Amino acid sequence: MSLPFDVAAVRADFPILETEIDGRPLVYLDSGATSQKPRAVLEAEREFLEQANSAVHRGAHTLAAEATELFEDARVTVAEFVGAEPEQLVWTSGATAGLNLVAGSLGYRGDLQIREGDEIVVTEAEHHANLIPWQELAARTGARLRHIPVLEDGMLDMHAAAELIGERTKVVAFPHVSNVLGIVNPVAKLVTLARGVGALTVLDACQSAPHLRLDLPASGVDLAVFSGHKVYGPYGIGALWGRDEVLEALPPFTTGGSMITTVTLDRAEYLPPPQRFESGTQPVSQAVALAAAVRWLGEHDLDAAHAHEAVLEKRLREGLRSIDGIRLLGDTDAAERVALQAFEVQGVHAHDVGQLLDSRGVAVRVGHHCAQPLHRRFGMTASVRASAAIHTTEAEIDTLLDAVSGVRGFFGVGAAA
Ligand SMILES: Cc1ncc(COP(=O)(O)O)c(C=O)c1O
Repeated sequence: MSLPFDVAAVRADFPILETEIDGRPLVYLDSGATSQKPRAVLEAEREFLEQANSAVHRGAHTLAAEATELFEDARVTVAEFVGAEPEQLVWTSGATAGLNLVAGSLGYRGDLQIREGDEIVVTEAEHHANLIPWQELAARTGARLRHIPVLEDGMLDMHAAAELIGERTKVVAFPHVSNVLGIVNPVAKLVTLARGVGALTVLDACQSAPHLRLDLPASGVDLAVFSGHKVYGPYGIGALWGRDEVLEALPPFTTGGSMITTVTLDRAEYLPPPQRFESGTQPVSQAVALAAAVRWLGEHDLDAAHAHEAVLEKRLREGLRSIDGIRLLGDTDAAERVALQAFEVQGVHAHDVGQLLDSRGVAVRVGHHCAQPLHRRFGMTASVRASAAIHTTEAEIDTLLDAVSGVRGFFGVGAAA
């Protein structure tokens, strides 16, 4: 049963939102970096550790059986969250680990192996996590890494994409939502281009998973990753989702215990996916707590929550736009978006902006947000990023806007200077 959306009730679930920063209420607008955790998540992890902690898939004792059941139930819950089957969901330590797993696995053998002369296509809007593993793969194999440019308004240049994606393309990897621009990229169009040439698609769903309903099998992509700590879950856990036949075709990337059937001194045989990709001791309490996070999310009317976030998005972007001396990265009304926006306060360094906002209790991210090429594209090295969550209020957006509107005056730049 889902509850009607009530932001005050949602906020009451997050103990950290009661924090004060120098006597001012915390306005947490850094959920794009990491989300806060509702009480249900904190309790689930603690309860597991207090009552069921044990290694999974080994041991005949009661606790081991209970832990295994909770761990595998978590897989079912998190798989459902993205519209998938549990066998298609590989636990990873986060999105970065998932992307390294895919790029690493494609690099050394198997039917999908990347070879010299192949092409890997990414976008100019990648988080480094969806760029550097592909750079490394290209360097190791002799493949060529190409990128889809970002236009001035932040949209992907889809004409260039259509030209770039060709018969040599073996992988097209892209973010569902840019972690700088907040723009939702055209997944279906990219999938059509990739499928047209038989290339694999890899979706970085880190910034969409907290804000959009995901149906990964229906999206048409072949593989996708996301991080637990950005969907109100704990650190140290994420997931790689893959189509059955794609996971089946990938060789293991990391090897060791837990992922084998038979081992001799010379060789090993591997379990089928997902265990084939889950070597070593598993992040059990984290998986259980991530399942609690998606169950907690599912208790709310998500359509109403998304409508609330859409209001925040509009208020944030239009409010920033109306302040003198603010430049938004990816300023377009044409795109679907989430409530995440990077901006520059002209004449003031992003770090100085961040510190001034912090003195008002407002937490934002400053820097390149692990997207240096995208900042370079806009002629910048750093920006300020505000990102909202299900618990953000319109009043909090207004607090940010009010603080931002005073920044240039505070530093003596702009009209008064
Ligand atoms: C779009 C995107 N991709 C990948 C990542 C990497 O996620 P993690 O550091 O949790 O592995 C992030 C985190 O900021 C992100 O925003």
